Amino acid sequence: MRYLISIVSLILANLLYSQNKPIVTGNDGSSWTLYTRSSVYQIRASEGAPVQMVFFGDKSQDIILLRGRLGDEITVRGGYSGATPMLEVLFPDKVRDIELIYDRAEIKEIDGYQTLVIYQKDKYYSLSVIGYIRVLPEYDILEKWMEITNIGKKEIIKVENAQSATFFLPSDDYELTHLSGRWGYEFQPNVTRLTQGLKTIQVKDFKSYGSSFFAIRPAGEYAETEGRVWFGTLHYSGNWRLDLEKHIWGELQVTGGINFWDQDISLRPGQHFISPKMSIGYTRDGMEGVSLNLAAYAREKILPASHRDKPRPVLYNSWYATGMNVNEEHQLALAEVAKEIGVEMFVIDDGWFKGRVNDKGGLGDWTVDKNKFPNGLQPMIEKINAMGLDFGIWIEPEMVNPNSDLYKVHPDWVLHYPNRARLEGRNQLVLNLAREDVYKYLYESFYKLLSENNIKFIKWDMNRAISNPGFPSAKEEDQRAVRIKYVENLYRLIESLREEFPDVWFENCSSGGGRVDLGIMSRTDFNWASDNTDPVDRIFIQHSYLNAFPANTMISWITHEDWHGHNHSLEYKLNVAMAGVLGIGYDISKWNEKEKAIAKEKITQYKEIRNTVQFGNHYRLVSPYENNRSILQFVSKDLSESIVFVYNLAEYPGGYTSETKKTKTVYLRGLSPDRSYAIEGMEGIYKGDYLLNYGINFSVSGAFRSRIFKITAQ
Ligand code: DGJ
Repeated sequence: MRYLISIVSLILANLLYSQNKPIVTGNDGSSWTLYTRSSVYQIRASEGAPVQMVFFGDKSQDIILLRGRLGDEITVRGGYSGATPMLEVLFPDKVRDIELIYDRAEIKEIDGYQTLVIYQKDKYYSLSVIGYIRVLPEYDILEKWMEITNIGKKEIIKVENAQSATFFLPSDDYELTHLSGRWGYEFQPNVTRLTQGLKTIQVKDFKSYGSSFFAIRPAGEYAETEGRVWFGTLHYSGNWRLDLEKHIWGELQVTGGINFWDQDISLRPGQHFISPKMSIGYTRDGMEGVSLNLAAYAREKILPASHRDKPRPVLYNSWYATGMNVNEEHQLALAEVAKEIGVEMFVIDDGWFKGRVNDKGGLGDWTVDKNKFPNGLQPMIEKINAMGLDFGIWIEPEMVNPNSDLYKVHPDWVLHYPNRARLEGRNQLVLNLAREDVYKYLYESFYKLLSENNIKFIKWDMNRAISNPGFPSAKEEDQRAVRIKYVENLYRLIESLREEFPDVWFENCSSGGGRVDLGIMSRTDFNWASDNTDPVDRIFIQHSYLNAFPANTMISWITHEDWHGHNHSLEYKLNVAMAGVLGIGYDISKWNEKEKAIAKEKITQYKEIRNTVQFGNHYRLVSPYENNRSILQFVSKDLSESIVFVYNLAEYPGGYTSETKKTKTVYLRGLSPDRSYAIEGMEGIYKGDYLLNYGINFSVSGAFRSRIFKITAQ
């Protein structure tokens, strides 16, 4: 009978979907079907038992077959310990097992999207657990997070683990793609088979150089443009982890959230903890479907609303030109050339503040260095503004040099333990941002800086890994929550500054792309993707970055640095940087007329195409990881314009190129099949259908040559 009711309610759910309801409650009142464009996610509850997850996968799946259960919607430590737990607590009487039972559910609208809210509680102890699933159908994404509350009156519940989300996939052979890396080589793709056991990807020191992005496919189904892929990523910039557990019967469980290694939270009566979000999704359009969904989602829903739709300016950044050796005269000389070649935002990097002669001093003292800028910054900014440029500045709020006024007065403001060395990285210590006084000091310092100077752009850097995570003066039960509180205050600090200075752009940097995730991206406008400015390395880094994030968040400057001694041409470097947010980092005061002319021409071209690059959909047509060239295509939202970037890589000795590496016909993506398009620099008019299905050969010959093709609807 019960089974019959389930079937009837599922049929009804399916019918209701045709009326475009993202969340449908079964007529038993205790099952829910969540629909996105391509996926269905199903949950069932029953009295006196934990809520169960039934299915997550393709919408075309006949949902009548979706019976049984894959696992609990919120897995806990307790009972049989088969699954990876999302939640582990220690109750006041030292009981460590949780027994969750379903309480009720409701559908709420949160920021314009239907959200299923499922209330569960412990059978005996005063613990309430709420699971949220917000459905964003047009991006094929579900946002999941969890809220736990100590609903008791007297005692503390210690939370030893509280993940953001978990989900199960049916028994199959799966393959995982994730992005990892190191300084200078961020976001490198890794593919691995998931065999029985646990694969954990984690950050333990706030530095990832990769990302919490994951994509899971049935093994052997890999294709860029088709095939089933489950994907996701976390919205968290501290220590995070992803656990992919292949259970003994072949099901795969994916769990993600804060990495509770060496962390815990004490929940006092009435207190709650809300996990960061984890976005999960499903597409049947291969890795292209993953990147299209994630990029559009970040562009349209994650990036700060104030700047989301603004074209990103062309930047100049003085770091590679000057190091810390900055002064007004040279900055003005750089700004003059920057203006001449078409730059819009002039950014002074590290070195402008008190005592910053090298990386051994200054961090923490956020006032201008009077030796370098005797008149302060504002007179220089005024001159730069008078040239028609906006002005931006570098800061590294979370750090302090022991050689600074701040540290001399407040040696206890850094993360540290008694009787343990204070480990320095790049001669700096990490401020304990979990402290309210540190938060206030930083807020006031930057409030002052931004109020007294006409600054329109902040480059927020963070250059070292976290060590010695001690907070000796905190209450004993709060000491291990220091890193969680730190991240809360980091977010709060950026948010408060943005609120006070709503027209300022914020760039996220962490020795290059050491801290890129949707958490920080919802508070900043773009990321410095890597300190590596070699164009060939960048082709790989950018190709991979675009798996998970949109091009309008990817700052890319050209510099004189020659990582591998190839002496690449200015055009090649500029063409690479133009696939993101273009920036210049050379000492342009030394440029000759020819160099200036090349840059000027390219910047003009960039301004013509940037709307499509920054706001269009991107397609990774040819991967440099598999071919001897890389091709990226961007298509404007109205399908009237497309930009194709073709980058050749090295040539093989003697002109030999193996068959697999030969230039192939390229099938364009995303165009309207019915419209006709002209390709700049090529003869004729092409039907969209032809370009999509018959393809075209972009003939660019020679090692490290590149070209940009503009395709316009007629
Ligand atoms: C590391 C950043 O990645 C660089 O771009 C530069 O800002 C330096 N820090 C400055 O110290």
